[in-house]
Amino acid sequence: MARTIVITGGTRGIGSALARERLRRGDAVVAVARDAALGRRFVEEGGDRAGFIAADLSTVAGTREVAAELADRHPVIDALVLGAHSMRPGRHVTAEGLEATFALYYLSRHVLLHALAEPLTRADRAVTINLSGAGMTAGRIHWDDLQLTRGYSATKANLQAGRANDLLGVAFAEEHPGISTVAYNPGFVDTRPYTGMARPYRALAELAAAVAAAAPERAATALSALIDEPPPGPFAARKRRGSGNRPIDTTGPTYDPGTARRLDAATRDLLAGLDAVSR
Ligand SMILES: NC(=O)c1ccc[n+]([C@@H]2O[C@H](COP(=O)([O-])OP(=O)(O)OC[C@H]3O[C@@H](n4cnc5c(N)ncnc54)[C@H](OP(=O)(O)O)[C@@H]3O)[C@@H](O)[C@H]2O)c1
Repeated sequence: MARTIVITGGTRGIGSALARERLRRGDAVVAVARDAALGRRFVEEGGDRAGFIAADLSTVAGTREVAAELADRHPVIDALVLGAHSMRPGRHVTAEGLEATFALYYLSRHVLLHALAEPLTRADRAVTINLSGAGMTAGRIHWDDLQLTRGYSATKANLQAGRANDLLGVAFAEEHPGISTVAYNPGFVDTRPYTGMARPYRALAELAAAVAAAAPERAATALSALIDEPPPGPFAARKRRGSGNRPIDTTGPTYDPGTARRLDAATRDLLAGLDAVSR
């Protein structure tokens, strides 16, 4: 049966390969990203079942607008794949005053998931897949400085957001047990060029990708299997292995429910603070 799949970051890299794979299988696919020209090409090539929403998900306001448009156009959403991400070599602050990696890589995913819980709940076997570094234990939540105003590094910001995404899955699944929530690590996938990386690292990463990374189509096949057959239970973590997936142990501190609830509460406070300022 044709399903409705929403993919943030569905115009490049892993998201693009998955979007095309799902169109081939007969689903309706909506990609969300900034580059309108790439979006137009996706719709032209994809035909009637391909949709695109141009948006910058690094602001809460922009993310909420996308969520409202999606919920309005699609009363039932079968799969929400969260893949929008961009690397930045230095600390950047969004128009809403938030550190950009935190805002895009974690906060927009929190906002979208919760805002789309209703259309997801209406689906037969809804699944949400959060593409991140699931299973990694490096990095931590900087509770006293979530915006990393002190000692910033791109690695620190990405690792914090990665751990936050793991915890997001746990807290969301607790609140919405009827939706299958998956924290996902696609492994090393060749999505060159790495335009957001600082120069020496970029050259090294691109060399490594040429030698060792998997083609995005492999990751798309693995992700597609999770859309077709969501893992049992409200929450699971998976890592790509070849064109398939292996389970990640979720019993350790990375997925601790108490820590997940704490981050969820801190995130809601932060969002409420932004709302108070914009009123
Ligand atoms: N590739 C890997 O080896 C690897 C490994 C582990 C985890 N992951 C995770 O997998 C996901 C996808 O990675 P990828 O390598 O496929 O990424 P990618 O090729 O860089 O694609 C990123 C996508 O996100 C969109 N995007 C970037 N900034 C955005 C913004 N502010 N608002 C809306 N959309 C935005 C981009 O389109 P626009 O630029 O047009 O906005 C693009 O469609 C990421 O979450 C990444 O952390 C990847």
